[in-house]
Amino acid sequence: MSQFPKLAVLVSGKGSNLQSIIDHVEAGKLKAQICIVISDKTDANALKIAQAANLRTSVVKPQDFQNKDDFDRELLTQIDSAGGQWIVLAGFMRILGKDFLARFTHKIMNIHPSLLPSYPGLKAIQKAFQNKEKVTGVTVHYVDEGVDTGQIIAQEKVPITDQDTLETLEKKIHQVEHQIYPKAIQKVLWDE
Ligand code: GAR
Repeated sequence: MSQFPKLAVLVSGKGSNLQSIIDHVEAGKLKAQICIVISDKTDANALKIAQAANLRTSVVKPQDFQNKDDFDRELLTQIDSAGGQWIVLAGFMRILGKDFLARFTHKIMNIHPSLLPSYPGLKAIQKAFQNKEKVTGVTVHYVDEGVDTGQIIAQEKVPITDQDTLETLEKKIHQVEHQIYPKAIQKVLWDE
């Protein structure tokens, strides 16, 4: 276990992707160790999920810092103190700065609920639904300076049927996310 790569998971919200990552680690399907879960919000449900799994947690709030560089530096301090080797963004809704990215080049992954490059940014599921797309999906990608623009690691399509509501579509997307992300992380950590 201690030989496994150490992941720092960054979260902002519900934490369903964090939960699926934890489940895959516990089942031995994702050979990694979650060394810290960091939230930028005190009330993120993801923190409760992390605590229930006895994981180390930390809250780093942007409003506690004078500028974004200081916020990023504190994130790095926390990740380093936990020995993080890889960074997994799981619903973390912030853009990481240049210096942060330079420290972890090609070691930061993100999941996004669309078939990138379509629908980057916020409300991706809603936008695809409202535009009456026939297909949307999920993308796992490396993180670069842009908004959901980094090199794609894995993608899976999710059809939008006439019967779908926004709620059913969200559910389908999240189900795909919970499978594709742990698998993609495992592949990147061990096959590359
Ligand atoms: C997920 O749908 C993820 O793809 C999305 O936030 C949600 C987090 O859910 N991320 C983005 O939109 C990133 N641009 P979760 O907190 O239940 O894992």
